[in-house]
Amino acid sequence: MHTDSTIPLPKSITASRAALLNWYDNSARELPWRLPPTQYRLGKRPDPYGVWLSEIMLQQTSVTVVKDYYLAFIRSWPTITHLANASLEDVLSQWAGLGYYARARNLHACAQSIAGHYDETFPQTETELRALPGIGDYTAAAIMAIAYRQPANVVDGNVERIMARLHQINTPLPQAKKHLKDLSLHYVTKDRAADWPQALMDLGALVCRPKNPNCPACPLQRYCKASVLDDPASLPRRVPKAARPLRFGATFVLQQGQKVWLRRRPPKGLLGGMSEVPGTKWAEKKEPTNTHMQEAPVPANWQPQGMIHHVFTHFSLELAVYWAQAPNTCQAKDGWWADISALDDEALPSVMRKVLAAGLKNH
Ligand code: ADE
Repeated sequence: MHTDSTIPLPKSITASRAALLNWYDNSARELPWRLPPTQYRLGKRPDPYGVWLSEIMLQQTSVTVVKDYYLAFIRSWPTITHLANASLEDVLSQWAGLGYYARARNLHACAQSIAGHYDETFPQTETELRALPGIGDYTAAAIMAIAYRQPANVVDGNVERIMARLHQINTPLPQAKKHLKDLSLHYVTKDRAADWPQALMDLGALVCRPKNPNCPACPLQRYCKASVLDDPASLPRRVPKAARPLRFGATFVLQQGQKVWLRRRPPKGLLGGMSEVPGTKWAEKKEPTNTHMQEAPVPANWQPQGMIHHVFTHFSLELAVYWAQAPNTCQAKDGWWADISALDDEALPSVMRKVLAAGLKNH
């Protein structure tokens, strides 16, 4: 989304933009994927590959968690071609723990598409970017601005929050989304196109935080209509979310010497393609132990090891964990024996790491 830089911006917008960019010059976070403002000024550009990778990782995950994953990915696959040539299984294993695994599958598919169709260089238009797997409006705009220094309206939760407060928008989210996006477009210019969205992100993370905004430290305080309210943090308003339903199931940690039995989840759907400990379906009703046992991978002396709890976006899950020593004549099918000492190398989602921790704790 481009703006016409010949139309003069209202004074308050020009002034608040300058105030925030000035603050960013002194307060920008140092992040492994980021080019600081001084470097952009020298005409440097970051590698679009790193910008894309970091933006995909940061979509649902905090900066603190992403830093190490990002560095590990860049170490394993320094270019888009390396990533395209990796196996999906290796990508999923390195992604394990970041959650929202469709992102990892799309990341791999996107790398292969770029390697195949774009001669291994990142496309440079928003339209082409949006056509790639896993790249939506937000990520396309972020790449245009941060990698290519093009004026683009990069709107994430931080930007929505800042706009809602700055302009005191009382309409709740998600209804207010379009309005907030239109407001944020007014601030987008060619000048410092890469620094602007990153300045907003840093303001949102460090000052205009979701809870406890630090208004006295805010470079936008004098322009902000929410800063005079008793509770600026009440903006943006939200339509209350429906309570998360609870689901139940059981998992079976089958051990043989220093190995444990794992299987692969179906390629599509929640945690698609990831490794897991075998278990029952996740149901709305809690089943008794003898019903669980009918779904054990092999008949064995299954011993209860307690419950684990995990929260997904759309439901919470309670899993009973059973453990057994594999019988000598073990007939388990459709899986593999994984070394307990090398479980870090398996594509195990967090919920399954909890299951294994509980199941192997006493053994
Ligand atoms: N959150 C999403 N993208 C980000 C970025 N590029 N820098 C910091 N925080 C972010």
